[in-house]
Amino acid sequence: MILVTGGTGLVGAHLLYHLLKNDEKIRAIYRSEEKIKAVKKVFSFYTDDVSLISKIEWFKADITDVPSMIPAFVGIEKVYHCAAFISFNPRDYREMRKVNIHGTAIIVNLSIDAKIKKMCFVGSIASVGDSLNGNLITEENEWNKEQDNSGYSITKFGGEMEVWRASQEEIEVVIVNPGVILGSGFWFAGSGELFSEVYNGFKYYTEGITGFVGVKDVVKAMILLMNSDVKNERFILVSENKTYKEILFLIADAFGKKRPSKKIKPWQTSLLWRVSSILSLFTRKEPLLGKYAAKSAHEISKYSSEKIKETINFQFDEIETVVKEVCNDYES
Ligand SMILES: NC(=O)c1ccc[n+]([C@@H]2O[C@H](COP(=O)([O-])OP(=O)(O)OC[C@H]3O[C@@H](n4cnc5c(N)ncnc54)[C@H](OP(=O)(O)O)[C@@H]3O)[C@@H](O)[C@H]2O)c1
Repeated sequence: MILVTGGTGLVGAHLLYHLLKNDEKIRAIYRSEEKIKAVKKVFSFYTDDVSLISKIEWFKADITDVPSMIPAFVGIEKVYHCAAFISFNPRDYREMRKVNIHGTAIIVNLSIDAKIKKMCFVGSIASVGDSLNGNLITEENEWNKEQDNSGYSITKFGGEMEVWRASQEEIEVVIVNPGVILGSGFWFAGSGELFSEVYNGFKYYTEGITGFVGVKDVVKAMILLMNSDVKNERFILVSENKTYKEILFLIADAFGKKRPSKKIKPWQTSLLWRVSSILSLFTRKEPLLGKYAAKSAHEISKYSSEKIKETINFQFDEIETVVKEVCNDYES
């Protein structure tokens, strides 16, 4: 039996559908019934028969709570660990450490106890090091702890370290490090907001560059790696490196909406995050823009996915195709 954490999130929900399609027996961790409805919505983008979801054994637990997690591992042979807390708000750092590092340590410890065979961990390009010479970033680029890293980046790196520990305890591990994941179903969180914002007339763009990948490619790569002989390796999953401007324009074009027209310069985002973090001290509300989100909007980071292409002969969907598909689901 397979255990999936984070099954009620973007990656997990799409993963559950593809695992079920392969007739796998699945137990999935959830925290609230409300979020299972979101998974049903994701299934509806694939099939008219969303009753497929009833084949999942839903298991209520919190990955940071050991007693609730122990019974989840009974009879488990493989684990897909997708759960994480994603935030660029410095106030969330403690909680991110708890979920992304300690939660992963708990999953690893229970996997060792249960003598599972193989684990797939969803890391991030945020925990891969920068390129120092202008070459494309690869899996070999070392993460630099001396840099001004975001809390998310630090905690995703810490989670990855826990997973490498599992590989020392006779568990085969594969780690995927996706770029920004574009996919259907969660329109008001994470990358889903790119779609809802542009649909509602978002006007601004920056020219920072990063790696983008479709969620279907992410889950396809995860399943192929788990069903292969590949072990104890990490793989960057990036279909294309693009500017935020290019992505926003592609989304606007696919919706038939006006393209964002106002370029935001680095000094403007830098001013905005400072002002909004001061204001948030008084309002106790989340700052409109965090320092690291502001920084990454202008950063130029280009990634290579040659390793996954060569290792399992993987081919990515073009980002333009992914965007069109996601926009289509948004309007359905
Ligand atoms: N989205 C991206 O662009 C992107 C890019 C690169 C890497 N990643 C990585 O991909 C993975 C999946 O991301 P995503 O986009 O699917 O995130 P998401 O939509 O925010 O989903 C996060 C999932 O983790 C679960 N979770 C969080 N804290 C938990 C806890 N304490 N106990 C149990 N479950 C918990 C959430 O459960 P609830 O539904 O109950 O909240 C949800 O199912 C993460 O590891 C993330 O770091 C994401």
